[in-house]
Amino acid sequence: MSEGSAPVVAVDGPGGSGKGTVTQMLAKQLGWHLLDSGALYRLTALAAVRQNVPLEDEAALVAVAASLDVAFKPTPEGEPARVILAGEDVTFDIRTETCGNNASRIAVMQPVRDALLQRQRDFQQAPGLVADGRDMGTVVFPGAQVKIFLTASAEERARRRFSQLKAAGVDVSIDAVLEEIRVRDERDINRSAAPLKPADDAQVIDSTGLSIQEVLDRCMAAVSQT
Ligand code: C5P
Repeated sequence: MSEGSAPVVAVDGPGGSGKGTVTQMLAKQLGWHLLDSGALYRLTALAAVRQNVPLEDEAALVAVAASLDVAFKPTPEGEPARVILAGEDVTFDIRTETCGNNASRIAVMQPVRDALLQRQRDFQQAPGLVADGRDMGTVVFPGAQVKIFLTASAEERARRRFSQLKAAGVDVSIDAVLEEIRVRDERDINRSAAPLKPADDAQVIDSTGLSIQEVLDRCMAAVSQT
């Protein structure tokens, strides 16, 4: 499996660090493709639940991951791509807390990760790729020209997530959101398969107390230095 030759900006970090928003803006500003690798883990989890595949059945999950029928449909200016699974728009279904938690459970399995690897690498196309995930700089695109590890304190990430959920009309407490973030961090950091950690050559940006624009400016500065 060889990587393509188009340049890659790998942006890794925990959920709520601002990665999703920043990578979307970065891809738009550069005019490059965007890979939301977390969506692939979420889609695998969603497809498994819908097919009544137990989330402990590694072999069956690998089959689900390998046969995912997914399309990312671009939308008019500024909006994230619609996510289509087997012809159905699941853009919102994959964003629930349950789906995120299920994704993190199946993401600990190395064979599931392997089944999604080439699909992720296929996004590396001209003129370039902005890749958002946990292991973009360490495993999927180790040769990425720019590697950024975006982080923020768990409390700040919980506050951001809480505001998003409130705005979406979801009734939840900030303590529950913080607990969920801690559980997910713990699992992502301590798993043996592609644990969440900065690549040795990544620039670490702590977004606690920074606006999205400030984070974007720092990322753009990192890109223009190469
Ligand atoms: O980024 P997002 O919250 O959508 O990712 C959902 C889950 O998928 C993460 O908690 C993580 O366990 C897993 N994931 C991963 N590797 C990636 C992207 C996501 O293990 N590159």
